Amino acid sequence: MPDIKMKKEWWLSIRLIHWSVVISVFTLLISGFYIATPITFGSGATPDKFYMGNIRSIHTFFGAFLTFLMLWRAYLGLFAKFHARWTDLLAWTDLDNLITQIRFYLLLSEKKPSHRYQYGPLQALAYNGLIFLQIMIILTGLIMVGANIHAGLSLWLGNFLKPVEIAMGGLAGVRMIHHIIAWGFILFIMVHVYMAVWIDIVYKEGTISSMISGRVFRKAE
Ligand code: HEM
Ligand code: HEM
Repeated sequence: MPDIKMKKEWWLSIRLIHWSVVISVFTLLISGFYIATPITFGSGATPDKFYMGNIRSIHTFFGAFLTFLMLWRAYLGLFAKFHARWTDLLAWTDLDNLITQIRFYLLLSEKKPSHRYQYGPLQALAYNGLIFLQIMIILTGLIMVGANIHAGLSLWLGNFLKPVEIAMGGLAGVRMIHHIIAWGFILFIMVHVYMAVWIDIVYKEGTISSMISGRVFRKAE
């Protein structure tokens, strides 16, 4: 029997952030695609047809929540006393390990990549892409909130982000870019969930349940 050790991999706040992000992103995808192609009601009194307004409120609320979650994760990446360091995003810079991982994934070699960082090299690349998507969708979202709600923080943020709005060709361009990035999220989720299941089956370390319990079961090295 190999010597298998239990190791704490994900602290509670990371797990809370992860599953809150999942709930937010799924709600944002559903409400966002409704905003893009709404159902129109031909008849009935106007006050009973505020469906779109409600969906936009839900979308804006979860948009603000996603922004908060991202700031929280960034704070942990910089200052946490437990393992949540932003430097794990640099795992892909270990090029030998990156090549080892690609060869392993293509079933060209049985040698697994080493565990020097919390993430594998390709995983780190994917998370760098996710952070870029998240920043862009939040910026474009905040510009649109600023255009909708002309008061307080949203107005201030809208004005502050005016140069970004102009660079994107105005509000129509901002909305189109926001929509395209939403598809980037769908792509990320498909690859991420596929890889989580694949790693769970191939490594047999309890990867998926580790995002709930926080613990993996790893062979002693
Ligand atoms: C994963 C995150 C998100 C996804 C998948 C998403 C998706 C979408 C989609 C598909 C639309 C419709 C665009 C169109 O009409 O073609 C939309 C609209 C909108 N989104 Fe998001 N969004 C996300 C995050 C955010 C965030 C963070 C904010 C703000 C903080 C935000 C604010 C808005 C606003 C205000 C609109 C309305 C545009 C309008 O009323 O015409 N979204 N979103
Ligand atoms: C909107 C969808 C999702 C996003 C944006 C997302 C994002 C992330 C991020 C950023 C991490 C790294 C954790 C950190 O250091 O903060 C992570 C890890 C993880 N996620 Fe997700 N995730 C999503 C959905 C899911 C779903 C549906 C599953 C279930 C299969 C899942 C399973 C995992 C697992 C198992 C890990 C740990 C991987 C490892 O051991 O390295 N994720 N996810």
